[in-house]
Amino acid sequence: MSKMRATVFHGKDEIRVEEVPRPRAGVGEAVIRVTLTTICGTDLHIVRGEYPVKPGLVIGHEPVGIIEELGAGVTGYSIGDRVLVGAITPCGQCRGCLSGHVSQCGHGEGYEALGGWRFGNTINGAQAEYLLVPYAQANLAKIPAELNDEQVVLLADIASTGFSGAESGGIKIGDAVVVFAQGPIGLCATAGAKLMGAALIIGVDGDDSRLKMSKRMGADVVLDYRECDPIAEVKKLTGDGADVAIEALGTQQTFESALRCLRPGGTLSSLGVYSGKLQMPYDAFAAGLGDHRIVTTLCPGGKERMRRLMEVVRRGRVDFTPLLTHRFSLEQIAEGYRLFGERADGVLKVAIKP
Ligand SMILES: NC(=O)c1ccc[n+]([C@@H]2O[C@H](COP(=O)([O-])OP(=O)(O)OC[C@H]3O[C@@H](n4cnc5c(N)ncnc54)[C@H](O)[C@@H]3O)[C@@H](O)[C@H]2O)c1
Ligand SMILES: [Zn+2]
Ligand SMILES: [Zn+2]
Repeated sequence: MSKMRATVFHGKDEIRVEEVPRPRAGVGEAVIRVTLTTICGTDLHIVRGEYPVKPGLVIGHEPVGIIEELGAGVTGYSIGDRVLVGAITPCGQCRGCLSGHVSQCGHGEGYEALGGWRFGNTINGAQAEYLLVPYAQANLAKIPAELNDEQVVLLADIASTGFSGAESGGIKIGDAVVVFAQGPIGLCATAGAKLMGAALIIGVDGDDSRLKMSKRMGADVVLDYRECDPIAEVKKLTGDGADVAIEALGTQQTFESALRCLRPGGTLSSLGVYSGKLQMPYDAFAAGLGDHRIVTTLCPGGKERMRRLMEVVRRGRVDFTPLLTHRFSLEQIAEGYRLFGERADGVLKVAIKP
């Protein structure tokens, strides 16, 4: 029983499910038996060699599981408790965490950019039979008995991220909101905009099944960028421009379009991960004098965030299970990566059951 099966990154385009040592819980840590996980777009970046992690690392950062072992000092939990753990695992002690910037956790001291993202990045991740949870006291969120694994697995990352795009954008009741890209992240941002009281939500994408899902997640109008100019359409629909534009792809084009859709004084809430240079043409933001706000957010984590998200689901405010379009066992995960990576067969998110 000292071994487990896990998805190990060996280098570009090389992941294998293999036997690795099973983790043991040290002081302040816990081990959970993973009952459900999924694959994130960021895992694709890792496997394609676009985001560096060290070979030999177990990847994945979206765990639902059952507590198997509790380290010394972790209180208020029992072996056998069902828990959700966020993709971001803040220490809860550093200046970053205690200032409310849990994703920029400084590992016990100040701040560190992305420091709260540990699973499948700096420590072994969730696409495995067992997972070591650091700072367990701050990160194990008990799952209410009424909720099943599929209802909560997407809260660990994409729902927390998508909602944060709406929250950081400061959406007010009655706002007009446009969301660029309706991939899993953008769809959750659309659902977040709806929850926050937007009066008009416009979803932009170029994929038929995603545009359809956009309406299901709360969009009033969907725009297919293959068939229209989204900026002109948003201006037409809103008059002055959107109050809040959410960017959920991470390209120059969508960033710039989001900026050009804003009314003066509007907010661009950016979720995408960019590479290279991002340019801001002066005319797109009134030469810097338009009172625009541009904000960025990394997925919020920690057990309180997870508790709140589970409440939203438990109270029936939102249901993300339609986004889980395909199911695989851990042994079949390579097939899950292929399907998800190719966006084949109308896939949105794949459930992986170890
Ligand atoms: N901020 C965070 O914490 C965080 C967390 C996870 C992922 N991300 C990032 O969020 C982004 C989106 O992730 P995802 O998993 O939803 O991506 P995805 O690749 O699954 O979806 C992207 C969508 O963009 C659409 N698209 C392509 N070109 C477009 C255009 N010009 N206009 C509008 N839509 C267009 C595609 O049709 C697709 O539906 C990525 O950059 C990802 O790395 C950020
Ligand atoms: Zn992720
Ligand atoms: Zn911290």
